[in-house]
Amino acid sequence: MKSEPLPPQTPPLEEFLDIATEAALSAGAILQSFWGNLESVREKGRPGDLVTEADAAAEAAVITILKRHFPEHQILAEESGHQGDTVSRFLWAIDPLDGTTNYAHQYPFSATSIALLVDGVPQIGVIFDPFHQELFRAARGLGATRNRQSIHVSQTKILSHSLLVTGFAYDRRETADNNYAEFCHLTHLTQGVRRGGSASLDLAYVACGRLDGYWERGLSPWDIAAGIVLVEEAGGRVSAYDRLPLDLASGRILATNGYLHDALSAELLKVKPLAMPLPSI
Ligand code: IPD
Ligand code: CA
Ligand code: CA
Repeated sequence: MKSEPLPPQTPPLEEFLDIATEAALSAGAILQSFWGNLESVREKGRPGDLVTEADAAAEAAVITILKRHFPEHQILAEESGHQGDTVSRFLWAIDPLDGTTNYAHQYPFSATSIALLVDGVPQIGVIFDPFHQELFRAARGLGATRNRQSIHVSQTKILSHSLLVTGFAYDRRETADNNYAEFCHLTHLTQGVRRGGSASLDLAYVACGRLDGYWERGLSPWDIAAGIVLVEEAGGRVSAYDRLPLDLASGRILATNGYLHDALSAELLKVKPLAMPLPSI
């Protein structure tokens, strides 16, 4: 993604990174405190789209910290929506608990994801997985780290040698464009396609070379904005499926180690949706 220069009076990116880190660690402690003790797990819209009291508590903690430091910035948070003056060029995109389904089932693969966008372009990304104590951080031009050590995308150059990851949005029963066909196609062509259940961690794992590529549709900016900075700063490539610049509002992303980008894009564009309807549940 192309980014406009930051306004001259902007504090160094490290300052934003440190505050975002404080907020993510604080959310992580809250997620751990509710682990296995949830009183409320409910569907907030579509079947399977869960929300718990941990989502709300972690989000409130993040917003409190960000507003204390940056009261004039906009905030876009999954559970409480948008707040702040749209005149501000700065917007924080927050997913307090990315991987709520995993979390509600005590499957330990979830994270807090916090990104700072300037003029709509992600500049800072912090993703904290409290269950593995992994803190992923990146800032535009400053590189990407895992627990403060520099990270880099994988060197896999051939699709048939790759391990990929994807996900399935909550509208998957309502549309033939549900990623099932793409999942089958790429499973056939690669060493495997994982379904992590946390888009932010999927991207963080691409950034640190555990996975070679990721694609998904039906996403929101809070799912992917932080991970985009991580993958790009770790030497990877992020785009739309057709390799055009990513449009965050499209909900569709292709992120790879760079080497596999063209091949994965070409395969995704070949896929025709599976016949609908699938049997109802
Ligand atoms: C979900 C996860 C999942 C992805 C879904 C997202 P949530 O976020 O990132 O991996 O497949 O599309 O909505 O609901 O757990 O915050
Ligand atoms: Ca999410
Ligand atoms: Ca969430």
